[in-house]
Amino acid sequence: MNRVIGTQKTIAINQQETEMNETPEIQEGHNSIPKGWLVFFFAAIVFVIWYVVSYTPAISGWSFYKNYEQEMAAAAKNEAAKPAGSYAGNEKAISEGKEIYTANCAACHNADATGGIGPNLTAALKYGATENDLIESVGKGRPNGMPGFLPQLGQDRVGKVVAFLEKLRNK
Ligand code: HEC
Repeated sequence: MNRVIGTQKTIAINQQETEMNETPEIQEGHNSIPKGWLVFFFAAIVFVIWYVVSYTPAISGWSFYKNYEQEMAAAAKNEAAKPAGSYAGNEKAISEGKEIYTANCAACHNADATGGIGPNLTAALKYGATENDLIESVGKGRPNGMPGFLPQLGQDRVGKVVAFLEKLRNK
């Protein structure tokens, strides 16, 4: 026997079952699809269409290689702006640079770099104050008593001590 409740829900009650255990068997009705699910369903379709269109080279011109080249070009430009091994603005490197300075430079340039045997490094510099100038002064040394530190410290630590000097100078 079928009993219709409201307009949409149909509950069929199996007569025999009802007699046996008093529990009506519930069958599938015609409930409407939940709105949220419909929205998700159509959104998924739209997304797939958008995705296929925008990542198909023949349609949108998108290309993995083009993106790669653009990113590499942008990265190369950033690199070119700074000398190799630059640590400018890198706080961790600057604090390491400070230790390197205390251990290797403070004896001649004073603990606060205001000068002693060597000149004041916080004031105007004879050999230039750009990052490249500083790397050269520290790495290769200067004629009137500034030893070259590249052999002793290596490129990396020269870069760090220079980053420390730059921070000191920019204060
Ligand atoms: C033995 C002493 C001594 C030590 C150690 C020393 N310097 Fe010097 N430094 C000098 C002298 C002297 C000069 C001046 C050189 C000149 O005028 O030609 C100088 C010059 C410089 C200059 C160039 C200054 C300018 O006017 O252009 C910089 C930069 C510098 N030192 C940084 C450092 C750093 C960084 C360290 C540690 C890694 C260091 N120095 C260690 C003695 C020293």
